[in-house]
Amino acid sequence: MKQKIVAGNWKMHTTFDEATQLARSIANANTEDDVTVILAPPFPYLKAIHDMTMHIHGLKVAAQNCHYEDSGAFTGEVAAGMLASLSIPYVIIGHSERREYFHETDDILLTKLRKAQSAGLTPIFCCGEPLNIRERNTHVQFVRSQLDNTLGHLDAEAVSRLIVAYEPIWAIGTGKTASSEQAQDMHKEIRYFIEEKFGSEVANKVPILYGGSVKPGNAAELFANPDVDGGLVGGASLKAESFLEIIAAF
Ligand code: PGA
Repeated sequence: MKQKIVAGNWKMHTTFDEATQLARSIANANTEDDVTVILAPPFPYLKAIHDMTMHIHGLKVAAQNCHYEDSGAFTGEVAAGMLASLSIPYVIIGHSERREYFHETDDILLTKLRKAQSAGLTPIFCCGEPLNIRERNTHVQFVRSQLDNTLGHLDAEAVSRLIVAYEPIWAIGTGKTASSEQAQDMHKEIRYFIEEKFGSEVANKVPILYGGSVKPGNAAELFANPDVDGGLVGGASLKAESFLEIIAAF
């Protein structure tokens, strides 16, 4: 049985008070027992929100990024081992905003995946194509190559311990969601990629989340697909009400 997951990526939003209030509202709500809810607040709030939520069943926190070295002279960066020392369970790796604005290549992301896993963190690994690739109808090859260059260098055991998030870049923060069919088609391709490389047992274990303008109004339809195991939610995770409605859509 794959895990059902709804993760909220707060990006560079909220003040500390807003963040703790948001976490409290989610913690106090009675969410579905079988859905794991993950909150990814900005770094300075991570420990406080982890402490607030750690005793609540099914509620976890994630870092939005980590560095690819263990330690050293990397001003402003955060190592995977630091997150592990706070018992942070998850880390988002390879979000398209990191790839685009911070020039994170597949090679860098592979190193981050390895570091995160060796520190004991579970990566939420993001992939997804830009609009021009989708328009050229080469999105499957594009995403397969992102996966080949990263997951393709890990072993089956490592891949069985991560989460994949498919986030078409043209759907992130744009209000344009991939149709339920587009999401299912790509998720099926991602699962097929994992199956080809690592076998069906691993492929059936890895949760594949959809991200890109997930909202209360489209969540149920997206989550009803057999290969969509949950969502990575940006904008709609910043209001407790809409985030809780998305969780309830499962
Ligand atoms: P969005 O962001 O839900 O605001 O489109 C999703 C994400 O970037 O993870």
